[in-house]
Amino acid sequence: MHNEIEKPKGNFTAEICSNHQVGPKFYRLGLEFSARAAKIFAKAKPGQFLELDLSSAALPPSEVIPAELADACRRKILLRRPFSFFNVATDSERTTLDILYCVLGAGTLRMTTLSKGESISIIGPLGNGFCVPQGKQTALLVAGGMGAPPLLHLTETLVGDYPDIRIIAFAGAKTKEELLFETQLDRPAAEKIERITATDDGSAGYRGFITDCFTKWLKENPVTADETMIYSCGPEEMLAKVAQTAKEKNIDCQISMERLMACGIGLCQSCAVECRVEGEGQTVYKLCCKDGPVFDTKEVVFKL
Ligand SMILES: Cc1cc2nc3c(=O)[nH]c(=O)nc-3n(C[C@H](O)[C@H](O)[C@H](O)COP(=O)(O)OP(=O)(O)OC[C@H]3O[C@@H](n4cnc5c(N)ncnc54)[C@H](O)[C@@H]3O)c2cc1C
Ligand code: FES
Repeated sequence: MHNEIEKPKGNFTAEICSNHQVGPKFYRLGLEFSARAAKIFAKAKPGQFLELDLSSAALPPSEVIPAELADACRRKILLRRPFSFFNVATDSERTTLDILYCVLGAGTLRMTTLSKGESISIIGPLGNGFCVPQGKQTALLVAGGMGAPPLLHLTETLVGDYPDIRIIAFAGAKTKEELLFETQLDRPAAEKIERITATDDGSAGYRGFITDCFTKWLKENPVTADETMIYSCGPEEMLAKVAQTAKEKNIDCQISMERLMACGIGLCQSCAVECRVEGEGQTVYKLCCKDGPVFDTKEVVFKL
């Protein structure tokens, strides 16, 4: 999306400082960096990500392995796994970085056994990250399910670095327990952000899709398009709806996209995102790991 100068990144070792469960299938992993890595990760932008090497992480005891993962989890984890940053904090010598993760398969299941004091190999910070264009007065954040972490990180940056921007967050999930945006939002961001929630089962907020709340809100609360920015992360169907609303209202919109990533550094071509070429009727394939994961919705051709 942005032709920025290549940012520093590298292969580093981090120390695990915490790893605990925060929801039904959700965990929060704390990593600590020192020396050069601390300086580099201190500047990590919301929307950027890292690749974790989980090849030596152990399996949990068999009684806690979900039945649906019993076979799959035995295989070796050869490829690194990508995760967004959810929280980055730094002092003069160390940078701590938190990841919010959902147990979905063999890698994330093994991640649950990482414990305080262990070391882990990391490549990052990767990708471009969100940006805040000049002149924006309102930020509308739309988070769906596991799309919450990079937007939670973005709220910290907006609240800290752009105190005059009004922030309204729309957070959706299947159930109340899966509303990570709500449960993991720390102060002072929680006090400064107007929040609207939706769940599929109606256990919290509006019953239905968060995109319906978002569209309704925009109808009832006209905003100045030039002064507004939409940021979104979540399932691709949701991103496509957010992009459509942004187009109708002529509001700039940045989305963080997900693709299966084998290398994370632009070598394997496994993470292609079809993008329009401005002013031409053609499309090109960009790489989610290198050109993204944050894209301007005007360029993305959604795969639905
Ligand atoms: C840029 C980026 C940032 C991410 N940030 C986070 C985060 O902050 N927290 C988090 O929990 N997850 C995040 N993910 C997704 C995370 O990388 C995958 O859930 C993880 O790699 C799954 O590994 P696994 O071995 O447990 O599951 P696997 O056995 O590899 O896969 C289990 C299931 O999940 C699906 N899956 C795996 N990776 C992805 C993906 N990238 N997109 C869509 N479906 C996938 C597979 O198709 C399969 O159905 C991110 C992905 C990307 C690309
Ligand atoms: S993950 Fe290999 S090129 Fe993007």
